[in-house]
Amino acid sequence: MQKELVSKFLDLYGDSDKDVMVFFAPGRVNLIGEHIDYNGGYVFPCALDFGTYAAVRRREDDTVRFATLNFDLKVEVDINHLVYEEKDDWTNYPKGVLKVLQDKGHTLGGFDVLYYGNIPNGSGLSSSASLEVLTAVLCNDLFALNENRVELVKLSQKAENVFVGVNCGIMDQFAVGMGKKDHAILLDCNTLEYEYTPLVLNGAKLVIGNTKKRRGLADSKYNERRGECDKALEFLQKELDIQALCEIDPQTFEQYNYLIEDETAKRRAEHAVYENQRVKEAVQALQKADLEQFGKLMNASHDSLRDLYEVTGIELDAMVEEALKVEGTIGSRMTGAGFGGCTVSIVEEEAVDTFIEKVASSYEARTGLQPEFYVANVGDGAGRILP
Ligand code: GLA
Repeated sequence: MQKELVSKFLDLYGDSDKDVMVFFAPGRVNLIGEHIDYNGGYVFPCALDFGTYAAVRRREDDTVRFATLNFDLKVEVDINHLVYEEKDDWTNYPKGVLKVLQDKGHTLGGFDVLYYGNIPNGSGLSSSASLEVLTAVLCNDLFALNENRVELVKLSQKAENVFVGVNCGIMDQFAVGMGKKDHAILLDCNTLEYEYTPLVLNGAKLVIGNTKKRRGLADSKYNERRGECDKALEFLQKELDIQALCEIDPQTFEQYNYLIEDETAKRRAEHAVYENQRVKEAVQALQKADLEQFGKLMNASHDSLRDLYEVTGIELDAMVEEALKVEGTIGSRMTGAGFGGCTVSIVEEEAVDTFIEKVASSYEARTGLQPEFYVANVGDGAGRILP
């Protein structure tokens, strides 16, 4: 891929005496711990082995030229004039990253960049976080910014929050920036302390199912859910000295949930508190190689996202239901923000082909949509791959 990208880069931008560098940032899949990163909870994502590439070369002036092999749109901007523009579409993500780096006091120069991504767009596998972290990492290298990786992760999230206007949590950028081959990351979103857990699946496979129901994060109900959680927190704060919903355990929640005088907010909070507990139990189960228990917790996570948090929808529910009917499925749930996008299932190796065949046909019969499946490998976080 990198050779082809460099040759396309040279076709597009021409030759120069400066070197072309190539960077890569993965997509991510979250195994459990959904919609709790912004509630100070634990999440358990991992990086995938597909993602976004960028070939990049510095320029002598202050111009930045963005292009991608995925879409026709090309955008040229002055590095000293970075503003969000609807018409600039996908380039607003990298522009946002440049802007937050500048706002932090860094001096950047012009460059030409050509991206290529193989994360299915709108699938909930973090194509936008991948693009952001990729851009942060390449700028760090190109302009010798000397920022550490976690800071680049935080700046990427900030770009999405303040420049693009999506109030996402830290999970996606963290997984993309900090992923480790064959490991999942247990991340405490309250403190950003993290720990790698070997993803030993005893021969079972991670199968990602794309419902092909696209989900737009910005115009979805994501920000509304965040608001409902904030509301629940405010009610609880009348009695409890807490800053985030996931600071309380299920027992404390049961004792004090009478304070939440809003039924919807109460259900959202219940999801958050119990999901956090499930993450802790799931990691323990994995460490004991108890995959069956891990799978049960994944299933319970999906049920809670469907019934209490209400972010699944008919496509995700249908895919999970069909997955659980197949013998050899150990667990299955939606992953990411929801409202469409992907499911993640753990499936015994010898059942993977049957799984894909059966779920594909029954899902299509139910929804009329043709799904796609990827048997996922867990890869490393973002970095330079050439030279
Ligand atoms: C999106 C957001 C993340 C996280 C998930 C839900 O992927 O970008 O921060 O909130 O949804 O777990």
